[in-house]
Amino acid sequence: MCGIVGIASKRQDVENDILNTLANLEYRGYDSAGIAVLKNNNILCKKVVGKINDLRNLVSDVDLSSSIGIGHTRWATHGAVNTLNAHPHFTENIALVHNGIIENYDEIKSELQKEGYVFKTETDTEAILFLIDKYISKGLSPLDSVINSLKHVVGAFALAIIFKNYNDLMIGVKKGAPLVVGKSDNHVVIASDVTSISKIVDDVIYLKDENIVQIKSSEIELFDTKGNPIKAEFTKVQKSLSNDINKNGYSHYMLKEISEQPMVIENLNSNYNNIIEIINEQKLDIYKKIIIVACGTSYYAGLVAKYWFEKFTTIDCMVYTASEFCYLKKRLNKDYLVICISQSGETADTLASLKYSKSLGVKTIGIVNVPKSSIDNEADYCFYTFAGPEIGVASTKCFTAQLTVLLKFILGLAEINNETDHDLISKISYELSSINDKINEVLSKQSLIAELAEYCAKFKNAIYLGRQNAYPIALEGALKIKEISYIHAEGYSAGELKHGPLALVDENMLVVVIANSTSEVYLKTISNMENVIARNGNVIIISDKKLDIKNVKQFVMPSIIDDLTPILYAIPVQLLAFYVAKEKGTDIDKPRNLAKSVTVE
Ligand code: AGP
Repeated sequence: MCGIVGIASKRQDVENDILNTLANLEYRGYDSAGIAVLKNNNILCKKVVGKINDLRNLVSDVDLSSSIGIGHTRWATHGAVNTLNAHPHFTENIALVHNGIIENYDEIKSELQKEGYVFKTETDTEAILFLIDKYISKGLSPLDSVINSLKHVVGAFALAIIFKNYNDLMIGVKKGAPLVVGKSDNHVVIASDVTSISKIVDDVIYLKDENIVQIKSSEIELFDTKGNPIKAEFTKVQKSLSNDINKNGYSHYMLKEISEQPMVIENLNSNYNNIIEIINEQKLDIYKKIIIVACGTSYYAGLVAKYWFEKFTTIDCMVYTASEFCYLKKRLNKDYLVICISQSGETADTLASLKYSKSLGVKTIGIVNVPKSSIDNEADYCFYTFAGPEIGVASTKCFTAQLTVLLKFILGLAEINNETDHDLISKISYELSSINDKINEVLSKQSLIAELAEYCAKFKNAIYLGRQNAYPIALEGALKIKEISYIHAEGYSAGELKHGPLALVDENMLVVVIANSTSEVYLKTISNMENVIARNGNVIIISDKKLDIKNVKQFVMPSIIDDLTPILYAIPVQLLAFYVAKEKGTDIDKPRNLAKSVTVE
């Protein structure tokens, strides 16, 4: 999704830090970019379709030196990808950058057109641009113009605005989309996330929804949307964040993040060895109905959790994709616990579901990777996944981190409620504490996966199969390969194959089978695979049991207790997707059309 930055400085070279911050925001996903500075009290704006390097090239011989400016990476929502629609947008009086959506832009546009405003772009952003411009033209102060404009606007968004003739003034707005304010001796910075500015600021304010920030001569003032002052609370910036966003010698963030999984799981094993205390303190053991809400990969983590809830507890667990759940209007009451899983903590659909649940008085907990994110702020309690920044758009380490937290939580509940044999819980906990040896074994054999990937890359369609707790891993494997290699792939529970998808199988179909031999449905999965072989499908099986079947390719896994299949078998499906995408030469860390943090519904 769009990334925004604004810098007001004591120095005259904000353009460099704006461009560097935009480069740090690239991971969010974007298709065009732009920068605007105040130069001799006039707005100077440059935009490109393409990458930040293209923007750097465009401005290389333009003098953008200034003490104040804004920048933007655009992920198109309203209007085609072109320079006209790219941000910043500007008038005679102001320039602004915007992340999120102005839902009632059409209505505002009609009103403003009647007043003579001529809309040139296809964006929703022009509506708020001209609204603020209108109030400025009427003689209101910049702050009052913003406050008055916000009264008319519906939607979830963040803004950074600079004003002609005010070379020391910048205003930011947070209303449903992320925005932080940072400061150092030289700079005050507004940005979409703290990681992108951690090198250039020392302290940061995590803005809350409906906060307006005014930066005037380096002074930071916060207001609510009625203009009442609010006390600013600064937090020291963790400087190590800027190291975490390096590739550390890896060719891609995705590969780095896949490789970090043993470290992440080790951290979680120690950070959550007090899980029973947390459950007791938060009174989480009283619920018999749990609803998990999430999107994409995080949703698949929820699907795995359902298998674990059902096996280890008597809790009724329902799992929903957030975009469906928030409009389902399910009649929740205080008997329910709602768990929202989100790497970014900013996913608009998940956040909307959380707010809906809270509005009914339901206890909500988050499982997030980004502390101080919107879901962290809104939920009654949050489990952090402590995976460090995940930059690759394809989620990898955060998925296994979510699974680890969920499993520890569910085993904790089972132990407290005395619902599962204590020896089984101890066995699983022990195996979880030593799973890294097995993950490292898989990582050390990735050249074999790269060889399989060479074979897979020629297919246009793929089916991933798994049963029971391997079924969500089949879904995740298919999502991973489609999002970064653009091969059309679908995941099915292997037992469903014969109810339809089998019709698709012929010599052109790749079928990836996930089958741990310690599963009670292992042999059934193998039978389902035989159905594919009989129809000339091209099978790759990921399994611990070495098979010798003609024309079937295999990646041999370490042996593991079935309950841990989802965590261990996630690794080869991630690696397979990575190496297929590498083979196909796609932009692995920034796949087309996708965004890392999906802040629109
Ligand atoms: C995963 O590879 C995806 N890029 C995507 O499905 C992601 O998991 C989804 O958008 C949810 O994001 P969240 O975990 O930040 O809420």
